[in-house]
Amino acid sequence: SVKTLTNSTSSSHLLRRGYGSEAVPDRKVAVLGAAGGIGQPLALLMKLNPLVSNLALYDIANTPGVAADVSHINTRSEVKGYVGEDQLGQALEGSDVVIIPAGVPRKPGMTRDDLFNINAGIVKGLCQAISKYCPNALVNMISNPVNSTVPIAAEVFKKAGTYDEKRLFGVTTLDVVRAKTFYAGKAKVPVAEVNVPVVGGHAGITILPLFSQATPKANLSSEDIEALTKRTQDGGTEVVEAKAGKGSATLSMAYAGAIFADACLKGLNGVPDVVECTFVQSSVTELPFFASKVRLGKNGVEEVFGLGPLSEYESAGLEKLKPELLASIEKGIKFANQ
Ligand code: NAI
Repeated sequence: SVKTLTNSTSSSHLLRRGYGSEAVPDRKVAVLGAAGGIGQPLALLMKLNPLVSNLALYDIANTPGVAADVSHINTRSEVKGYVGEDQLGQALEGSDVVIIPAGVPRKPGMTRDDLFNINAGIVKGLCQAISKYCPNALVNMISNPVNSTVPIAAEVFKKAGTYDEKRLFGVTTLDVVRAKTFYAGKAKVPVAEVNVPVVGGHAGITILPLFSQATPKANLSSEDIEALTKRTQDGGTEVVEAKAGKGSATLSMAYAGAIFADACLKGLNGVPDVVECTFVQSSVTELPFFASKVRLGKNGVEEVFGLGPLSEYESAGLEKLKPELLASIEKGIKFANQ
């Protein structure tokens, strides 16, 4: 069924971008881990997105309260809460986009890979359910370590016979959000105009921001570029340390997750030229998965863009990240097949 959107008076840019009174199709979005630090603000932001008609909030605990709360907001989507594995199938059924922020976050001193032992199993179970209940959904993987959880998801889907490389995404949008913010501050340009591709993976040195391609152009010194690169790579750790044991980025991650899910929905709806950086199956390098600019469309990935011209510093960073990223990918594949 097709509904007509007329309410575009909100001040949120998530609501304002490009919607007039055009017809938008029904779209169901499921958030798995919806009662968590990311899940709750992400549920709020998805409730504000006029492209969503049904919002399914799933967690192993506390979703009834989150769903009741969010459901009172007077926007388009109907909100339902699902709690416990018994209700996972219902939560997933008919979903167009499934966003996964389920799992434990980092504490000070931890790397994303330290989360592997717990989160790998969580992601595996959730992906088995996705292959059963909504095998055609676009999967937005937020759970860390993304460099491994995306390969795990791919293997689970392959085993189930439902794998479509065009429909599986590691969410690296927060790296882009951070790179844009930090660049704007250093280059003294309006942040809303800034674009910076971020490629590679989503952990430490595997995060490779391409400031040589940043726009608007600025004449930053190589010291500035190096500092910006390090700050982008360590942005997550900056938040983990500031939160001092109370978790990792949740609010900025929810924003980034909402931006990426919105891009997926726009692509599904046939909006042209929707491009985001994301960690996908890739032949851009010799690695089987890699983050780069991707054009999103009616089938998910429409086109994976190459890296473009790199500076010497970026080329060196690219070579340096490959062994670490490959090891994380292989660790995920091995886990899924054991
Ligand atoms: P959190 O601990 O606040 O929330 C996680 C939620 O997942 C909890 O509500 C928990 O009940 C739920 N959960 C656990 N097992 C589940 C299962 N089997 N099914 C459904 N839900 C389950 O953690 P937070 O801060 O929300 O972080 C979640 C994940 O996102 C972490 O793995 C974290 O590392 C990752 N993350 C990823 C980022 C990215 O850029 N991709 C950025 C920040 C965090």
